[in-house]
Amino acid sequence: MSTAQKTNKRKVTTHRLREMKTRGEKISMLTAYDFSFARIIDDAGIDVILVGDSASNVIHGHETTLPITLDQMIDHASAVVRAVKRALVVVDLPFGCYQGDSKNALKSAIRIMKEAGAHAIKMEGGSFIVDSVKRIVSAGIPVMGHLGLMPQSIYKYGTYTVRAKEEQEAHELIEDALKLQKAGCFGIVLEKIPAQLATEVSEALEIPTIGIGAGAGCDGQVLVTHDMLGINKEFSPRFLRRYADLYDVMKAAFSQYIADVKSRNFPNETESY
Ligand code: KIV
Repeated sequence: MSTAQKTNKRKVTTHRLREMKTRGEKISMLTAYDFSFARIIDDAGIDVILVGDSASNVIHGHETTLPITLDQMIDHASAVVRAVKRALVVVDLPFGCYQGDSKNALKSAIRIMKEAGAHAIKMEGGSFIVDSVKRIVSAGIPVMGHLGLMPQSIYKYGTYTVRAKEEQEAHELIEDALKLQKAGCFGIVLEKIPAQLATEVSEALEIPTIGIGAGAGCDGQVLVTHDMLGINKEFSPRFLRRYADLYDVMKAAFSQYIADVKSRNFPNETESY
């Protein structure tokens, strides 16, 4: 086995992500919510798997990420952890289990680490989560931040459009990123902000940034797996690159199966005992 192959098989840690930033190697991250998807994504060689609260939308069919519960996140995360051999598994703290209460934040983070076997947690927010980040990090739990568009605050924004286009908000975002780094975050997701601002933040930080709709200057990229696979046809923001059209592929397979059952073509003799 070559050194490159051995390096590629090594488990991804928060420390390795920092090394990747230092040597300019881009970090790949995708979401997963169940065993089967996680196994394929890990086998493909992804660096980080995010058990995102986007499960609320793509798995549970809610309009926002707000309804998903901590118990549901733990269920998804447990299944993902069971599948993963190499990637770092990061799990979102869902809405309502950390805001405004650092003790509750730590309790929720501990449940995710202990019950799901996750490797790290992610939280949305800037200065208002700094106390929680410090408390969780000091308990030995790695924390990833999330700035820019924060879907858990959608009712505050009232829109999913690009954040921090104005100077004031851009300035606050840079300050928040520095505060999160100082509080001990090992990385920060930057969602839907101007590419130039994301580049500026990435250059100002020692910890890696992972962008979604934040341009090429981030240290890594993340997409929601169901979106990049084209399973959800209705969601097509500008930042989304579709790597497959699975909606059509799956629909065609389901239609063929239905037709085969109806026409008595399935099962045939070799498919029977
Ligand atoms: O929940 C999620 O999938 C996320 C990504 C969009 C970064 O937070």
